[in-house]
Amino acid sequence: MEELKVLIDEQTIQDKVYDLAKKIEKDYEGKDLTLVCILKGSTFFTVDLAKRIDKKLKLQFMKISSYGAEKISSGKINLELDLPDNMENENLLIVEDIIDTGRTLSYLIKHLKEKSPASIKLCTLLDKPERREYDVKVDYVGFEIPDKFVVGYGLDYNEIYRNLPYIAEVG
Ligand code: IMP
Ligand code: MG
Repeated sequence: MEELKVLIDEQTIQDKVYDLAKKIEKDYEGKDLTLVCILKGSTFFTVDLAKRIDKKLKLQFMKISSYGAEKISSGKINLELDLPDNMENENLLIVEDIIDTGRTLSYLIKHLKEKSPASIKLCTLLDKPERREYDVKVDYVGFEIPDKFVVGYGLDYNEIYRNLPYIAEVG
């Protein structure tokens, strides 16, 4: 069994989600909004965020994986669930769990631009800036964290620990 050390507790996450929701609400005032949840990692974050955004919005889901053993991404990106081809007039807000190297997001943004949305922005709960290899513009960040492998609140280690209500570091 891995050892877990709490890095961000449940209340701190919920307070941050509320703050992000209010910022998003203000920035998208008078505009349509489509939240794009990236399965599976950002499900918990997307659901909590959506509940706190006090405006009409749409939810979309994409599934993308970078197959790799354990804690290392393989670098090979696999798009398992896509959005419809035409996203004209939609203001897409990608909701991600964590940005590590930025490979997944840079691929995803390029891919989504081909669907001609009105706008694309990016919201991530966690960011590991030290690890960045690909230039990705992030519009909303919950927490910047050090280069540690973390689990909980959607994030997994070999598919386990997604249901923890807090973020923990795996020892
Ligand atoms: P990137 O393409 O290198 O930015 O990797 C992003 C993906 O790697 C995330 O969506 C996660 O699925 C996974 N990942 C990166 N760091 C962690 C971590 O600390 N815990 C769990 N998954 C992680
Ligand atoms: Mg992920």
